[in-house]
Amino acid sequence: MTSILMVCLGNICRSPLAHGVMQSKLSKENFYIDSAGTAAYHVGNSPDKRSILVAKQNGLDISAQSARQFKVSDFDTFDYIYAMDQSNYNNIISLARHSDDIEKVELFLEANPSVKNKDMPDPYYGGQNGFEHVYNLVNETCDILAKSLSH
Ligand code: 4NP
Repeated sequence: MTSILMVCLGNICRSPLAHGVMQSKLSKENFYIDSAGTAAYHVGNSPDKRSILVAKQNGLDISAQSARQFKVSDFDTFDYIYAMDQSNYNNIISLARHSDDIEKVELFLEANPSVKNKDMPDPYYGGQNGFEHVYNLVNETCDILAKSLSH
């Protein structure tokens, strides 16, 4: 079993999309996917309704997800930890205990050579079009990651 954790700030906008999209591209028998936020603001909440909508428009139901905060034991549970932006990356790394922890953490968009800016934009204060942009970046990048992890 390979386990993958998607991490953003609140775990209500970006990482729930990455969680749902990645899960849809990999077999449940071989991959465990989860998501978390580095902040605790939204713990227990459903994904943002704009993330739920863009997922639904693309055939995915992410409404059952519930936000949780990243915790140190996630370094033990997960093989790969993908941060949505540099700030999330820094927050995760600040909790690392040793180099094995640090080695598990990558910027999600580093996997996508066609994207120059490696920070996934935070769509929280914008409109639905920002969520559509995030969905497209997530979908394209999860395709690349799922292909490389399945081989
Ligand atoms: P996320 O977006 O990190 O993609 O879930 C945000 C959600 C909430 C806040 C900021 C970003 N907030 O400030 O509450």
